[in-house]
Amino acid sequence: MAAKVRPLIAGNWKMNGLKSAAQREVKKLAGRMRKQGRPGCDVLVCPPAHLLAPLLAAVKGSRIALGGQDCHAAASGAHTGDISAEMLADAGCGYVIVGHSERRADHGESSRNVRAKAEAVHRAGLRAIICVGETGAERKRRQTLAVVGKQLTDSLPKGCTARNTVVAYEPVWAIGTGLTPTADDVAQVHAFIRARMQRRFREHGAGMRLLYGGSVKASNAVELMALENVDGALVGGASLTATDFWPIVQTSI
Ligand code: 13P
Repeated sequence: MAAKVRPLIAGNWKMNGLKSAAQREVKKLAGRMRKQGRPGCDVLVCPPAHLLAPLLAAVKGSRIALGGQDCHAAASGAHTGDISAEMLADAGCGYVIVGHSERRADHGESSRNVRAKAEAVHRAGLRAIICVGETGAERKRRQTLAVVGKQLTDSLPKGCTARNTVVAYEPVWAIGTGLTPTADDVAQVHAFIRARMQRRFREHGAGMRLLYGGSVKASNAVELMALENVDGALVGGASLTATDFWPIVQTSI
């Protein structure tokens, strides 16, 4: 069995959160982490962009990192409503999620677009969390590995390292539904992703963190986080409050 890499428990708040409640939740989480001492995992919160400045103040002195949920491929320019990786770095982010299935579906992002965004994240000196995952229909047609394999090939740029890249496997049908694949299914897909990463990025692929996402909650996190090649979680709904998120963090701490 390969040595476990340092896990990452990441919260993706999506389009949720207003300032004072968000600060309260993050401070509560920071307080629990402080009591725990030196955590054995990295903890990340990816709030909507308007919360980055207030939350940067709230995480000060804690080990909670902040991340963006998406970025434009360009560093600056005439792109109304977009934000660049350089801007997210400037706002104090350490990570940026790219290629989330909600971006792929709602904004028509192709794996080519995702790759350009991941390159932008690397250019800005940040870590890219690159999301892949099959739809329910694709799973029914037994195309999971083919779909995930193609997304990996097309979405990951050259130059991915264990340090600058995290891959998140998020089956689309498991997001926000309360459904999760079986432990065997998750283990199978993660073993497949690991093999692909090792083949393409050699030792960096062996050390790259592979997260599982899709209806992760306190009740299933222990089983999922114990699986081989699962090096953390990308959590949506259950990351919004410290009460829900903390027990998930604790599975890896
Ligand atoms: P849920 O945890 O709400 O299913 O969302 C998962 C997700 O999409 C995280 O990026």
